[in-house]
Amino acid sequence: MNAIEVNQIRKVYNQRDVALNGISFTIKTGESIVILGHNGSGKSTLFRTLTGFEEPTEGSVKLLGRGVDAGKRNHLRETRKKVGMVFQAFGLVDNVSVFQNVLFGALGQVKFAPATYSLFASDALRERAMECLDRVGLAHLSERRADRLSGGQKQRIAIARMLMQDPEIILADEPIASLDPKAGREVMELLKGIAEERNITLLMILHQLPIAKKYADRFIALKNGEVFADGDVTVIDENFETALFGNAGPEEASSDETSQHIEQEAKSS
Ligand SMILES: Nc1ncnc2c1ncn2[C@@H]1O[C@H](COP(=O)(O)OP(=O)(O)OP(=O)(O)O)[C@@H](O)[C@H]1O
Ligand SMILES: [Mg+2]
Repeated sequence: MNAIEVNQIRKVYNQRDVALNGISFTIKTGESIVILGHNGSGKSTLFRTLTGFEEPTEGSVKLLGRGVDAGKRNHLRETRKKVGMVFQAFGLVDNVSVFQNVLFGALGQVKFAPATYSLFASDALRERAMECLDRVGLAHLSERRADRLSGGQKQRIAIARMLMQDPEIILADEPIASLDPKAGREVMELLKGIAEERNITLLMILHQLPIAKKYADRFIALKNGEVFADGDVTVIDENFETALFGNAGPEEASSDETSQHIEQEAKSS
């Protein structure tokens, strides 16, 4: 079955800024995909249209066999329950415990929000939260306040919270952009391991090509709101990098522009 079907999506902001310009692709259940592309190429916009947080100007999206359509609210709510999201900024509630943050992951499964408050949560829910914490290796930190964690720990807690949803799809928008290399690797190992053991479809936005090659099977590269290339990660090499990002590469692309600008200024003065 296809987990995601994107059909000729266009997204135009303010009737003139074209963020996505006719994107199409299909992703099979259990695939691990990395979305590549320079800043502003439309990656995050694409993620938001996948979950219906952004409505495409044209085109359609199907997730888990269902249309993603703001006109069908209940429908959309059901689909979103099956999509776990991970962000660069973690998105934890700072002033409550790790355990409480993980319990919040079950918000989509209870009738009333207080059923996820640690004071009222059922034994079954509490047990599941501890299992999710255990899976990310941080059960021993369950009572710690979320703002007293390192970045790597925060992201692992965010992953535990997402596991409470029992997701069929994981969308991770630059999950390691704020982390040092070691913490970043740990988070990538977790995401990939969890996706493999549960046959979850994993879609990640990443900027580091070596990491992309190691943890994804397939890439979809965006350039100026269009699909520039779509294929097996093994084809990613220096030529590909130059074609997609220019000579500067993904990290230096923007700063290189700045340094050229500075060089020109220096010459003209
Ligand atoms: N809410 C918005 N209103 C207007 N323009 C927007 C909005 N969101 C995004 N854009 C524009 O759409 C384009 C794509 O932005 P998007 O955030 O999807 O890029 P991205 O590939 O995720 O970039 P980055 O790597 O910097 O995160 C950009 O030109 C951006 O300025
Ligand atoms: Mg983005």
